[in-house]
Amino acid sequence: MANLEIFVSFLLIFSFFPRVLPGQNPSRRFSKHGPRFLGKFSFPTKNNGIIGAPQYRYETRYFDQVLDHFSFSELPNFRQRYLINTDHWTGPDRLGPIFLYCGNEGDIEWFAANTGLVWELAPRFGAMVLFPEHRYYGASMPYGNREDAYKNASTLSLLTTEQAIADFAVLITELKRNLSAQACPVVLFGGSYGGMLAAWMRLKYPHIAIGALASSAPVLQFEDIVPPETFYDIVSNDFRRESVSCFNTIKTSWDVIELEGQRNNGLSHLTETFRLCQKLDSAYDLSDWLSSAYSYLAMADYPYPADFLMPMPGNPIKEVCKKIDNCSDKTDILECIFEGVSVYYNYTGSVKCFNLDDDPHGVDGWNWQACTEMIMPVSSSVNASMFPASDYDYRSDEKFCLENYHVKPRPTWITTEFGGHGFKKALKDFGSNIIFSNGLLDPWSGGSVLEDVSDTIVALVTEKGAHHLDLRPATADDPDWLVEQREAEVDLIQDWLDEYYEKNKAVYSM
Ligand SMILES: *[C@@H]1O[C@H](CO)[C@@H](O)[C@H](O)[C@H]1NC(C)=O
Ligand SMILES: *[C@@H]1O[C@H](CO)[C@@H](O)[C@H](O)[C@H]1NC(C)=O
Ligand SMILES: *[C@@H]1O[C@H](CO)[C@@H](O)[C@H](O)[C@H]1NC(C)=O
Ligand SMILES: *[C@@H]1O[C@H](CO)[C@@H](O)[C@H](O)[C@H]1NC(C)=O
Ligand SMILES: *[C@@H]1O[C@H](CO)[C@@H](O)[C@H](O)[C@H]1NC(C)=O
Repeated sequence: MANLEIFVSFLLIFSFFPRVLPGQNPSRRFSKHGPRFLGKFSFPTKNNGIIGAPQYRYETRYFDQVLDHFSFSELPNFRQRYLINTDHWTGPDRLGPIFLYCGNEGDIEWFAANTGLVWELAPRFGAMVLFPEHRYYGASMPYGNREDAYKNASTLSLLTTEQAIADFAVLITELKRNLSAQACPVVLFGGSYGGMLAAWMRLKYPHIAIGALASSAPVLQFEDIVPPETFYDIVSNDFRRESVSCFNTIKTSWDVIELEGQRNNGLSHLTETFRLCQKLDSAYDLSDWLSSAYSYLAMADYPYPADFLMPMPGNPIKEVCKKIDNCSDKTDILECIFEGVSVYYNYTGSVKCFNLDDDPHGVDGWNWQACTEMIMPVSSSVNASMFPASDYDYRSDEKFCLENYHVKPRPTWITTEFGGHGFKKALKDFGSNIIFSNGLLDPWSGGSVLEDVSDTIVALVTEKGAHHLDLRPATADDPDWLVEQREAEVDLIQDWLDEYYEKNKAVYSM
């Protein structure tokens, strides 16, 4: 990884909203981007995001997929990529299960490499493994290529969660028919946005999938179902629990950065202090870059070294705070922040300079989704947050989306389609067989389901877990609570399958 610059990957995504527009009270603005699931400044590394990665074996196939499931317009089909492995599958005669991972907003191979749990469970359950890719990402481009798929608001209009879930449903139905495996039970898996898809697919297509493991899936992070400050409050608590002085240093740093930015040569000084490749245009770009790092550190605050978003040590927030606290004797607080954040951006020591460039590829898929359906309000509270206070401002998001993507967000569509305030009640009355797994260090956990809804809609919560840690491959360093969480998942999946086999035996013997 020599000469590696931090660059922006078009694969890896999230919303792209100016919280407060330039020229407004600057103390209210620290981030023109809302938090993302996957880092704007992160990228899949050569070993696909796992240190000492086991490489999973699969065959890559393409499926001739319908582009618009909800109209009969004569649009061209597109090639949907999917990864498949049948090595351990016990086959149709023994009703071998099919484990389907709901592809998220990125290249499916990267998710496959980072979802060790599914691969490790396959032999234990005699399961087929299937990783279908999400439309408009990776190699699954409508209209033949990315450029045409991302051309304008009409070509992008088929990039929706409903279409993506329907893709999975159509694919698995045809695949099962081809294999005479119609009676084989399907279990869904997903993490983050993919976890939301898994939970929603179980709700929409209960006849197609018998259950879903939805890891770190913030299905309630819409409208005002959870307070908008939840996300940044959790990030901030993750820092405060390591060190109050670290929390305070970071909280103080924003004003220092802003004041420095207003001084003569201040931007040059900031550029030098933070070893940036290009001279800063605005101190906010730096604050934005820093706040991204803190958010991803919280998401990936894993107990062992990993490089899911970036190569990082185990308990990375502890390491960042060690650097920041250790340096507090020095006069320059910015130097301390630089040393701290280098744990995130330069852990391998191979970065020559940091590049803050915005997405050079223009619209990426997640920006589009965040401007249409996936409106997840986020703000920063005055006291509990270490970030500058900011209100959630829907109007500015809307303005941004209209200007940049010529599209008006529909912030109440997801809740109308899949359930909003009444989500848990509806799940209790009409749903079954969903696991919502979460780690409380993960800032997205605040928007997920954290308590059991019924006997079969179960929350598995770990205090020290982070963003879909349970989906990662088992390691020798796994703490007991993680091993137990995974075992609980295995037991529940086994229950679903047992029940299915029990019922099917009855059907067949009738
Ligand atoms: C988007 O591009 C397509 C293909 O070039 C074109 O037919 C369509 O009119 C464009 N739509 C808009 C809204 O610009
Ligand atoms: C099912 O079989 C048909 C005919 O061989 C093939 O064209 C299609 O790609 C198959 N679909 C899947 C999902 O395997
Ligand atoms: C703390 O600072 C001292 C002196 O600057 C340095 O030698 C030491 O390596 C630092 N420790 C950590 C954990 O960064
Ligand atoms: C990254 O770390 C290496 C090793 O500590 C250091 O030599 C290099 O200057 C750092 N890069 C930046 C941009 O700070
Ligand atoms: C924040 O803390 C200050 C000082 O403790 C207190 O006066 C204020 O009411 C708090 N604000 C909120 C919104 O909790």
